[in-house]
Amino acid sequence: MEIINKIREHREKEKQLEWRGTFKEYLELVKQYPHIAQSSHSRVYNMIKDAGVLEKDNHKMYRFFGEDIFGLEEPLEKLVEEYFHSAARRLDVKKRILMLMGPVSGGKSTIVTMLKRGLEEYSRTDAGAVYAIEGCPMHEDPLHLIPPHLRDEFYEEYGIHVEGHLSPLNLMRLEKEYGGNIEDVMVERIFFSEDKRVGIGTFSPSDPKSQDIADLTGSIDFSTIAEYGSESDPRAYRFDGELNKANRGIMEFQEMLKCDEKFLWHLLSLSEEGNFKAGRFALISADELIVAHTNEAEYKSFINNKKNEALHSRIIVMNIPYNVKVSEEERIYEKMIAGSDMADVHIAPHALRTAAIFSILTRLKEPKNQTVDLVKKMKLYDGEELEGYKDQDVEELKKEYQDEGMDGIDPRYVINRISSAIIRKEVESINALDVLRSLKEGLDQHASISDEDKERYLDFIAAARKEYDEAAKKEVQKAFVYSYEESAKTLMDNYLDNVEAYCNKNKLKDPLTGEEMSPDEKLMRSIEEQIGISENAKRAFREEILIRISAYARKGKKFDYNSHEHLREAIQQKLFADLKDVVKITTSTKTPDESQLKKINEVTARLIDEHGYNSVSANELLRYVGSLLNR
Ligand SMILES: Nc1ncnc2c1ncn2[C@@H]1O[C@H](COP(=O)(O)OP(=O)(O)OP(=O)(O)O)[C@@H](O)[C@H]1O
Ligand SMILES: [Mg+2]
Repeated sequence: MEIINKIREHREKEKQLEWRGTFKEYLELVKQYPHIAQSSHSRVYNMIKDAGVLEKDNHKMYRFFGEDIFGLEEPLEKLVEEYFHSAARRLDVKKRILMLMGPVSGGKSTIVTMLKRGLEEYSRTDAGAVYAIEGCPMHEDPLHLIPPHLRDEFYEEYGIHVEGHLSPLNLMRLEKEYGGNIEDVMVERIFFSEDKRVGIGTFSPSDPKSQDIADLTGSIDFSTIAEYGSESDPRAYRFDGELNKANRGIMEFQEMLKCDEKFLWHLLSLSEEGNFKAGRFALISADELIVAHTNEAEYKSFINNKKNEALHSRIIVMNIPYNVKVSEEERIYEKMIAGSDMADVHIAPHALRTAAIFSILTRLKEPKNQTVDLVKKMKLYDGEELEGYKDQDVEELKKEYQDEGMDGIDPRYVINRISSAIIRKEVESINALDVLRSLKEGLDQHASISDEDKERYLDFIAAARKEYDEAAKKEVQKAFVYSYEESAKTLMDNYLDNVEAYCNKNKLKDPLTGEEMSPDEKLMRSIEEQIGISENAKRAFREEILIRISAYARKGKKFDYNSHEHLREAIQQKLFADLKDVVKITTSTKTPDESQLKKINEVTARLIDEHGYNSVSANELLRYVGSLLNR
């Protein structure tokens, strides 16, 4: 019965929020809480701001979007600052239709849905409360009741600009129901709800021949004409178009550019003048955020058509590109899978990451900076620290192209390919190779990929596989060395002691016998060779490390295993090389002996317990790495 209680609780909470009073009482509320009279644009902006703003690397990150949208911090910052913030301050952008432009399945609809759902919730909070003339189908702003000639005075007293004039329907009701006494008009608090068609609307064009403008602006109610005597009596009109219903909130205009012109003219007037024409009435004022979305091709053909100039100048376009960070892409897939019927399937570690690497590579543009290749760029974008590159370089790379991420592989494609890999495999467990294979096969069926792109994409599959091979080897290596980090640290300390002695021309002390001994050249070289440091370059490399250590010391920082990317890599590879033979033998023998079997079982157990594998994927990993090492 838990759920019944919850339902009751919810109902009671909603009841407590209700408010009803005369216009006079409403004005007292406004005096106390001026924000309740804010415009729709301002409400949307405050909703986003109130959810919290984090500052990161000179960028604002809006928590409002954080839960569902990943990796788009910069485009979203621009969207919030340049559109919502300016519109909230009554700047001219408010008069523009917001158009989100981006590649397919790049999160445009998700963003709009978040705004819509967000507003529904926000209107139930104190900060987002909205009030309307009671019983008005358009939830008209009560302040429209203030006669135009008194609005300057109202502004003096309340500091609020009233825009828009009383609608024909409420003008008539004021006369007929309230005898012209504005102060008595009843006002109520409203709660946005798309289901109930309050303050949130969606318009999506269908067949232009059959679709009626009534869907947008309402229509005459023929059944009541007899009662009211005339078509121009506003009571004989149903104000139930999407534009009417979305008043005070937000209207999503789907496929706006596919829409018949006659629908767009209403938008023109609404966006510019804040009003639109319905039936035989004077213009109706509306205050709503109109947001549309489109892709680049559609948008280009739209602006290339001269006929659309007027509308074009009333649109503000915001780019919503694909995410270009591998780890954020992984989160996108995780989210999409969690919400799908694949939620229970075991997805081996690295599977999503490998797919993400592929996707991101297809979205990036070739760096102009010659020292960076695409894979490096991908890593830098993802915040990886690469030897020899600074944050500054990443910023420079980003500046090379203004429109990066506007094409490439979309997340939905990846999810579809993962899903078909699962169907084919029949076991509820899939790994990075399954995913890559499926991605590759899918390229043939992908309608919108040119032959030229396909060639490139196949290269990216190979690149993603290479990254996976490295990761897979490392994973197995880690599982083989019991306390991997410990061994790595010990080896590094040992190396550093030797390097120090070598550079300072000192001797080392043998920890056991206390005897003096020369630096262990063989040990140092065995590590350096892992990363291709030649005999000639060894001195420079060692000296550089020593300089790094003293630089750390000066800053009071501890030089550790993670302080030098190159050195860390060398140490890992050295450890792995030592282990290679053990791994090779144990993973690839068809008939392992008892001790090998024991080792394999231990490693499998560790992969499962500590690295997120299951028994199927752990065995697949070991077999694969065994075959890699035997090449
Ligand atoms: N950056 C992102 N962060 C989180 N999820 C994303 C992101 N990009 C895409 N998605 C996910 O991909 C799926 C498709 O996104 P959505 O439908 O919002 O895209 P769209 O831009 O509206 O696409 P279309 O042009 O096909 O209408 C959704 O499940 C969405 O959550
Ligand atoms: Mg969409």
